[in-house]
Amino acid sequence: MAGPLLENRIAIVTGAGSGIGAATAKRFVTEGAAVVAVDIRGAKAQETATAITDDGGHAIALEVDVSQPADVERMVDETLRRLGGLDVLFSNAGTIRPGTVVELSVDDWDLVMAVNVRSVFLGGKYAVPAMLERGGGSIINTASISGLHGDGGAVVYAASKAAVINLTRAMATDHSADGIRVNAICPGTIETPPVRRMMADPAVLQVNLDAHSLGRLGQPEEIAAAAVWLASDESSFVTGEHLVVDGGLRSRSPLGRLADPRPAAKR
Ligand SMILES: NC(=O)c1ccc[n+]([C@@H]2O[C@H](COP(=O)([O-])OP(=O)(O)OC[C@H]3O[C@@H](n4cnc5c(N)ncnc54)[C@H](O)[C@@H]3O)[C@@H](O)[C@H]2O)c1
Repeated sequence: MAGPLLENRIAIVTGAGSGIGAATAKRFVTEGAAVVAVDIRGAKAQETATAITDDGGHAIALEVDVSQPADVERMVDETLRRLGGLDVLFSNAGTIRPGTVVELSVDDWDLVMAVNVRSVFLGGKYAVPAMLERGGGSIINTASISGLHGDGGAVVYAASKAAVINLTRAMATDHSADGIRVNAICPGTIETPPVRRMMADPAVLQVNLDAHSLGRLGQPEEIAAAAVWLASDESSFVTGEHLVVDGGLRSRSPLGRLADPRPAAKR
């Protein structure tokens, strides 16, 4: 029988203090990896690392702002110094600010682009040389279905995630010959703390439930499963791709929804 998918791998997970990042850090360890749990909220990163070590896994925590070059350089240096190498980078930390182009402030534009896009650039900048030392690696970037559609209401978020998808393709092209694969994941609506806050409004929740063909929101563990696959050799012929994990959201047109009055789960 095949062993764990990430045996002896060393992985960095950003945004590991919550939601998708926390679930993925835990799953990577279940699959045999040692994990560096990174978050701008150091205490939350430590919570994830402690949960892992309490279970007998190998994890350390780092407080890092992924939008800051010196922080990201330190993130990779500490990983090499304390764990001895780097095989997998899950650039997952992200943020959102609402607003149309008229409403959005310039500061919020810059913040979201820095946290969501500059972070992926910086992650690659410092992780690729470290991965070269090991003869290759896998980089996974969290984009969003918002990067594929012209959803309104959070224009900078949509723009930032579209940028992540194409930055992923360009990085993949540049580093395929180095044995480094680069892919993105586009989650639909996943039940994480910020989403739970948004879904406190029953009308918003209903729209989201109806929009997903599977009739429910996704769970962080379901994105972690996709990240494990992309991190592992199981996806060895996949690079420059964006993997949509959205419960069938894009497969249904609004007209189809209006024409079918049955509850989503029964369609
Ligand atoms: N939840 C969803 O429905 C959904 C859908 C599509 C994409 N995403 C993306 O998934 C990723 C994770 O989101 P989540 O829903 O798990 O949110 P979350 O808030 O539960 O987790 C995000 C974590 O990132 C950390 N973070 C924020 N800014 C940071 C920075 N500058 N440096 C380091 N860490 C920082 C936060 O402290 C937080 O712990 C994000 O990139 C988000 O855009 C989420």
